[in-house]
Amino acid sequence: MMTAAPLDLLGRPMHDLRISVTDRCNFRCVYCMPKEVFGRDHAFLPRAEILDFEEIERIVRASVALGVRKVRLTGGEPLIRRNLDALVGMLAAVDGVEDLTLTTNASLLAPRASALAAAGLHRVTISLDALDDATFQRMNDVGFPVARVLEGIAAAEAAGLGPVKVNTVIQRGMNEHAVLALAEHFRGTETTVRFIEYMDVGHSNGWRLDDVVPAAEIVAAVDARWPLEPVDAEYRGEVARRYRYRDGGGEIGVISSVTQPFCGDCTRARLSADGQLFTCLFATSGHDVRAVVRSGATDVDLAEALRAIWTDRSDRYSELRTLETVKQPKVEMSFIGG
Ligand code: GTP
Ligand code: 5AD
Ligand code: SF4
Ligand code: SF4
Repeated sequence: MMTAAPLDLLGRPMHDLRISVTDRCNFRCVYCMPKEVFGRDHAFLPRAEILDFEEIERIVRASVALGVRKVRLTGGEPLIRRNLDALVGMLAAVDGVEDLTLTTNASLLAPRASALAAAGLHRVTISLDALDDATFQRMNDVGFPVARVLEGIAAAEAAGLGPVKVNTVIQRGMNEHAVLALAEHFRGTETTVRFIEYMDVGHSNGWRLDDVVPAAEIVAAVDARWPLEPVDAEYRGEVARRYRYRDGGGEIGVISSVTQPFCGDCTRARLSADGQLFTCLFATSGHDVRAVVRSGATDVDLAEALRAIWTDRSDRYSELRTLETVKQPKVEMSFIGG
């Protein structure tokens, strides 16, 4: 299937596809799936509505024909999806997928890292919001210990899934102290910590601008302790701004979607577990690609449907964020995978 790579209305190509393989998670991070909203009786997607592996593979092949080169599996927690190794194997075999990665909370990773690597996964990104159990457990809200996440990171590195990137969401009054603790812990290793500004994704986390710690403040705090210098972006559209320790201790990153949006280079499409394609993390609705797949469309029809969605895209939510847009009923992070 050969077709030209489409640009959206702002001239951005479709380069990354982020695929949520389940809307479920075994954590209840306070900024993502607060227990009051995601309680025992929360209605998750029923199985029949979730794309099966063959359907996901077809969508990936069609996306690659349109220019996608990077595929990231997300959730919820992607390792909850049964037999994920098989999906990894299928996607690793698609010609044109140059980077195949997974974003995980690492709770289930240690025993599975080598099988995932053997199936063809290239790298993992692991979420970890603090180095002390009191804070981490207050944030994951299910009593999960830090030590097991560190075991997951070590297992990923041993399996060849490194260098691992660690994602840390910083919330004012909750875990600001984790910045220096995590920076210190991972200094001198291959692991890069990326500090993420708390974002107004979804509508259940009660986001307030006051809860955001600006990336500039985070960089200043690390720089005051261990002097930093900026590093050039690795590729167009990289979400993290990178800094290296002047003494050679490695790198950190900051993801500043609130204070310094990066929509101009946003080349990411997002597929929810039930097959809706979202053209922005902050979208209020998606496009029903599952209906296209299940209607007996050919691969060419499917690629044309994706092209039509992408060429009509003009999203730049973070650049336009206002007090009004923050209140819109946006799709939840755990549904769209971040
Ligand atoms: P690599 O650079 O390949 O490691 O991946 P990544 O940084 O694109 O992915 P990751 O899943 O680690 O995302 C890191 C953080 O950036 C998460 O909090 C995401 O929600 C956020 N993020 C990723 N893409 C976007 C985006 O397009 N817009 C916004 N606003 N945030 C994003
Ligand atoms: N703001 C910023 N990052 C978030 N994540 C989840 N919810 C939010 C939010 N409201 C992060 C997770 C994970 C990544 C994919 O997104 O911690 O690391
Ligand atoms: Fe689960 Fe990740 Fe959301 Fe935490 S941030 S609840 S680990 S999906
Ligand atoms: Fe892309 Fe939307 Fe994030 Fe802007 S806010 S970078 S358009 S996903």
